[in-house]
Amino acid sequence: MPRRLAEPPVRLDRSDPTPLTAQLSGALREAMSSGALRAGERLPSSRTLATQLGVSRTVVTDAYQQLYAEGWLDGRHGSGTFVTEHEPLPRPSGQGPQGARTGSAPRTERLRDRPSREELRRSGTVNLLPGAPWVRDHDRAALRRAWRHAAEHPPSDDPDPRGLPGLRALLAEHLRRTRGVRVGPENVLVTRGTGNGLDLVGAMTGAEAAPGARVRAGVEEPGYGKARTILAARGAEIVPCPVDHDGIRPGDLPEDLSVVYTTPAHQYPLGGRLPLPRRERLLAWARRTGALVVEDDYDAEFRYDVAPLPALYGLDPERVVLLGTLSKTLDPDLGIGWIVAEPDLLHRLARVRAELSDRTSGPVQAATALLLERGDLDRHLRRMRLEYARRRALIVEHLGPRIGGDTAGLHVLLSLPEEAVAPVIAAAAEEGVLVEDTSRTSHGAPTVHGLVIGYGSAGRTELRRACEVLARAVERHAGG
Ligand SMILES: Cc1ncc(COP(=O)(O)O)c(C=O)c1O
Repeated sequence: MPRRLAEPPVRLDRSDPTPLTAQLSGALREAMSSGALRAGERLPSSRTLATQLGVSRTVVTDAYQQLYAEGWLDGRHGSGTFVTEHEPLPRPSGQGPQGARTGSAPRTERLRDRPSREELRRSGTVNLLPGAPWVRDHDRAALRRAWRHAAEHPPSDDPDPRGLPGLRALLAEHLRRTRGVRVGPENVLVTRGTGNGLDLVGAMTGAEAAPGARVRAGVEEPGYGKARTILAARGAEIVPCPVDHDGIRPGDLPEDLSVVYTTPAHQYPLGGRLPLPRRERLLAWARRTGALVVEDDYDAEFRYDVAPLPALYGLDPERVVLLGTLSKTLDPDLGIGWIVAEPDLLHRLARVRAELSDRTSGPVQAATALLLERGDLDRHLRRMRLEYARRRALIVEHLGPRIGGDTAGLHVLLSLPEEAVAPVIAAAAEEGVLVEDTSRTSHGAPTVHGLVIGYGSAGRTELRRACEVLARAVERHAGG
């Protein structure tokens, strides 16, 4: 009796990083173990299946070979490829066909535990996760000019670990103008961003600690989770330092910290701007204890209603290291930031950097220098300040009284009763709006409950819709 020719239920996804062969063998394995393909059924020839799926024949022959080797398929030359006798395997709970697609083949490890921003955009999800700027309206001509300029950058076999002198001078000038600090190129080291800068500070404090001693690093609580991760990865013991709606509380700082990480311009995530008297007390504490204050100056460029305070660094350059970045003002993919410090400290950081063979790409620095020199960065900042102010106004209009931390930056905090947080996130997700709670900002159990809403990567139309969805969800689960 001729055996039935199967039509394998296979769908390949070219945007999936899993190789097509592994996707195909996984899908067939899944179909066989679930019973969708039964013992004795004949699979299409490799040529036919390749044509049906629009892949090369090698993809199919390799997948068949793998399944022969695993004993799922049997074949006699010339008579076709058949599914062998086997016990259907129980499907692991919660695992749908997509999850099981690669079956027992090694799954490609994904870096993210959720879809990328691009995938979210394509699926029509409004993404309100914090941490991303608007990257869809850049001045293309300015960028092209910058990259053409970078192409002329000569190769170097001995790059300065502090970065290109020209860019350091331009950054110093930018910071003098925008952050009220008196600095020159001797105070600037060009990093790949805040994370890179903090990592170098962590490496330096670790290297300079007494033998056998462990660096105790204070981090705001709640605070920037990556700061904890980076310092801990450099061997520091993380000491949570409480904040309130104005920012860090110097009176609560322990006396034995080597370093404290803080966000005085716009506390992450509560959004406070550290008042001047507290700045003075923080610095007095640092002078007394000998601790180094790491000022993450992110978001200082985007400020609404109230004027920015000059950077903490300007009040006591001996005790403060300032970290800045273009990740939020221009493009996180560029990988440019800076450390500002006194020359001696900067020198120690540069030495550690050279030891670690860490650097910022010369051509990327050259492109950035042109963007600063020609005023492109300033123009972009002016445009984005206006745009973000409008988005922020939209959020306040819809979600008003529960919103905090909205005087700067690209995110706000929406406070909620603890029990309402999960239902509001779920209700929003059901209507295609992605938000996250405060859990990633806490070292221990969250003390502040609500949502950290980022509005950097949602345009005004989608943001308005998202705000309406959130307002309804909050009304339903937290009583408005
Ligand atoms: C508190 C804080 N600091 C710094 C950054 C930027 O970090 P990087 O320059 O490493 O991209 C972010 C980005 O979300 C942030 O939230």
